[in-house]
Amino acid sequence: MAVSDIPRTIWWEDGKVVLIDQSRLPLVGDLLACNTYEGVCTAISGMAVRGAPALGVAAALAIALWAVTDGADIEDYEKFLARLDEVAAEIAATRPTAVNLSWGAERMKAFARDNADVSLEELRSLIVQEAQAIAAEDEERNRAIGVHGAELLEEGSLVLTHCNAGSLATAYYGTALGVIFAAAEQGKIAGVWVDETRPVLQGARLTAWELRTAGITHRLITDNMAASVMRQGLVHAVIVGADRIAANGDVANKIGTYGLAVLAKEHGIPFYVAAPTSTVDLTLESGDDITIEERDPREVTGFTVSGIIEPQSTRESNALDALTRQGSYSMGMKKGHQLEIARKGGGFQFDGWFRIAPPGVEVYNPAFDVTPAEYVSAIITERGVARASYKESLAGLCSGSGAIHELG
Ligand code: MRU
Repeated sequence: MAVSDIPRTIWWEDGKVVLIDQSRLPLVGDLLACNTYEGVCTAISGMAVRGAPALGVAAALAIALWAVTDGADIEDYEKFLARLDEVAAEIAATRPTAVNLSWGAERMKAFARDNADVSLEELRSLIVQEAQAIAAEDEERNRAIGVHGAELLEEGSLVLTHCNAGSLATAYYGTALGVIFAAAEQGKIAGVWVDETRPVLQGARLTAWELRTAGITHRLITDNMAASVMRQGLVHAVIVGADRIAANGDVANKIGTYGLAVLAKEHGIPFYVAAPTSTVDLTLESGDDITIEERDPREVTGFTVSGIIEPQSTRESNALDALTRQGSYSMGMKKGHQLEIARKGGGFQFDGWFRIAPPGVEVYNPAFDVTPAEYVSAIITERGVARASYKESLAGLCSGSGAIHELG
């Protein structure tokens, strides 16, 4: 068990974008191979790939995929760039809150324009290399975040984290979990509290799986247990990731983050945000300007489950075999529950959605919230640690001259 046992999240392979399908992890561990940029867009909106830095990498790889597929038929440079802009806008629109998505797309657009002096054929292959470089840089940045963040933790730390800001949320290694991995290597981590993170359960499904794979002591709690755990003195620091950080230090992150920050302040616990500078959006003055994604009400009214069926007898095996002979089998169920069974290799897989709330109930399902800067003890980036006043410290770090703000 080691951090290195966690698989990579997303990569380029034989002219395709390959990614781990996180929508079904950890009970089903499929790889998705996308042949088109539209396929990557579907993977993003279906949350097969998620987490702000991973979305930045996905955007870059999707553009590279477009360049060598649909874009390969375009012979005119201006037309190539014009279509690339449209494709980039389509990709950036798949999820609105994480700035990394448009950051990745914008970086690819700028790269194509900066390389106007080569043939289109050469440009396409340079674009693929650039997207791969973005993925590699992401890992480097996360490792640097880990080094800076680990310095803030004391030996014997009990840390609480929310959602998944781990390796799976990045090309590799993670931001908030990157800090925990680096600190664990130095023997500083006594344990990690993992918030389950309703409604999509990234904490229960992904963070718990990563920590288990890495061999780091952790305990899973439901979101409403955090206050009680803090009151018992069992949390020494909260570390979360971010989807977008405004110029004043307001932080958009997974819904529930704001509540944790308020709780942390009440209990005198430091609240740290770990994110690359690509998550900082200096064009936004405050968090009020951040668009918050609202998602499918079914995430709140029920539970999605996936798994592999292991028939316990020949009778069961024959029954499943008969059901799925014509393709995947959908069970007819009352109250809108859904269950589909399909063949998978020599076995069977199920995907279901089960209702818990009454049919027709009105739902509000914002995927993110904004934590005002006053609740944030420090923002850990790959270039150093920013502290209040964030307007100055973040601007300094983003311009590359920010190490002085470490003292904040
Ligand atoms: O909806 P998700 O799973 O994409 O939300 C992810 C988060 O909120 C993460 O905390 C954030 O993207 C930081 S990931 C390093």
